Amino acid sequence: MIKERIRYQPLLDKITSADEACRCIQDGTNLFISGFTAGYPKLIPQALVRRAEAGERFKINLFAGASTSELVDGLLARADLVASRRPYMSDRFMRQKINNEEIFFKDDHLSQLSGLVRSGAWGNVDVAVVEALCITEKGHLIPTTSVGNTPTYVREAKKIIIEISAHDEDLEGIHDIFIPEDPPYRMPIPIYRTADRIGKPFIEMDPNRVVGIVFSQEQDTCPVFTPPNTIARHIAAQILDFTRHEIKKGRQPAALPWQSGVGDVANAVLSGFLEDDFFHNLDIYSEVLQDSVLDLIDLGKARAASGSSLTLSEKARTRFYNEIYRYKEKLILRPVEISNAPEVIQRLGVIAINTAIEVDIYGQVNSTHVMGSQMMNGIGGSGDFMRNGAVSFIVTPSTAKDGRISAIVPMVSHVDHSEHSVDVVVTEHGLVDTRPLTPRQVAEQIIRKCAHPDYRDLLWDYYQRAKNEAGGHEPHLLNEALGFHQRFMKTGNMRVK
Ligand code: COA
Repeated sequence: MIKERIRYQPLLDKITSADEACRCIQDGTNLFISGFTAGYPKLIPQALVRRAEAGERFKINLFAGASTSELVDGLLARADLVASRRPYMSDRFMRQKINNEEIFFKDDHLSQLSGLVRSGAWGNVDVAVVEALCITEKGHLIPTTSVGNTPTYVREAKKIIIEISAHDEDLEGIHDIFIPEDPPYRMPIPIYRTADRIGKPFIEMDPNRVVGIVFSQEQDTCPVFTPPNTIARHIAAQILDFTRHEIKKGRQPAALPWQSGVGDVANAVLSGFLEDDFFHNLDIYSEVLQDSVLDLIDLGKARAASGSSLTLSEKARTRFYNEIYRYKEKLILRPVEISNAPEVIQRLGVIAINTAIEVDIYGQVNSTHVMGSQMMNGIGGSGDFMRNGAVSFIVTPSTAKDGRISAIVPMVSHVDHSEHSVDVVVTEHGLVDTRPLTPRQVAEQIIRKCAHPDYRDLLWDYYQRAKNEAGGHEPHLLNEALGFHQRFMKTGNMRVK
């Protein structure tokens, strides 16, 4: 097993324990880890926590691909070991610390991170800790179920710690690793179809920088996917109806690839394809691939699926490894700067579907900050896809917190995607294609079609008064635009009693 996983003989000397390997991580270390909802290291974070529990005082600056799980973000945040964290995370405990400014957090477009690291904008890459399937005969690295920013972290790191994971060896070959040149020397990224492979099946690594290799039996935490609820299914059905209609009318080509964010609605859309006779030969050009992609492959509906991570439930994971050869033909895992590359998303004409926290009557979107102030997870790749997609859908249930919050508001309390990046707004009540409409027409339609009936009159009243009192191209009453939010903060309900 050891020789199969470490095929480059000189590195056999580097096998050690996690406690030993993590000694090079000290107070102030910039620590760059693999991981993009899956494929994160597990033993080194535990070893760091053991050091903290033994009384050592130190804090690290933690950089990942995107979210990890409570096994990394949760664990390290609880042990008070994180001074700063970039980018996207989704751990509840870490979120709390970020909102209390006990952890410094900066939210970035995921496509841009690797380039920023190579430019030196994130400081030195002191140590990279990466989960790997194996090390090749030439000393290169085969990642596991995610790629994220790992190729750049490995290239830039002064020291590298590798966690060899017990994933099935047959995973080898699923990755397509390509690091573009940086401006001003960048050439086009040569992906012309979702299925194109443009790089190598391994991450190039200088083995001399490896300071420790540990063997891990630990597994990623598995997400639990529940069947989509009624709201998610309604939203998904409208997106499929709309797209079918656009294709039939000749306004949209039939073969555009799909991107779907994470969560209930995303899964519902992909599940919707399973029961649909119209959509065939689907290409998925997305960021995180989930269980539903395996279903599409099984039904012969997916031609290719490309992403930066494969995040499967326990059941789907077993299914995947049982028939990995069949799935591997269709699946490609790429660095996130390629899966989310604006250039490629634009060239392929990706249909993008992402979820909002709230949307305003003119189509501006808040995906990250609850009531304008509290960070939820981060923008993730939603900006990459929303801004560059051929058709960009923003979806949200029309209310949150048992109806006490309207997801359609006069003005969003924080902006992630402006009206110029948002093509179609969808809630369970309706869909508005904003593209042919003026801002005033958008407002009228979003209020009528997307808002929950409980909030329509309130929104309409605001809009009418804004039109009469303020006028202009996008009428707003500046002293009232955030009135829905203020009411909620005061009374716990956006409705008027
Ligand atoms: N005001 C206050 N809270 C709100 C809210 C609003 N308008 N809308 C949603 N929420 C809360 C929900 O109540 C829920 O809270 P809980 O965790 O306490 O139950 C939480 O936000 C998550 O909402 P949920 O309805 O379960 O949706 P989700 O899991 O799909 O998450 C986002 C929605 C927006 C937070 C999530 O999609 C996200 O982080 N998006 C940004 C990144 C992204 O799009 N990535 C994909 C790109 S490839």
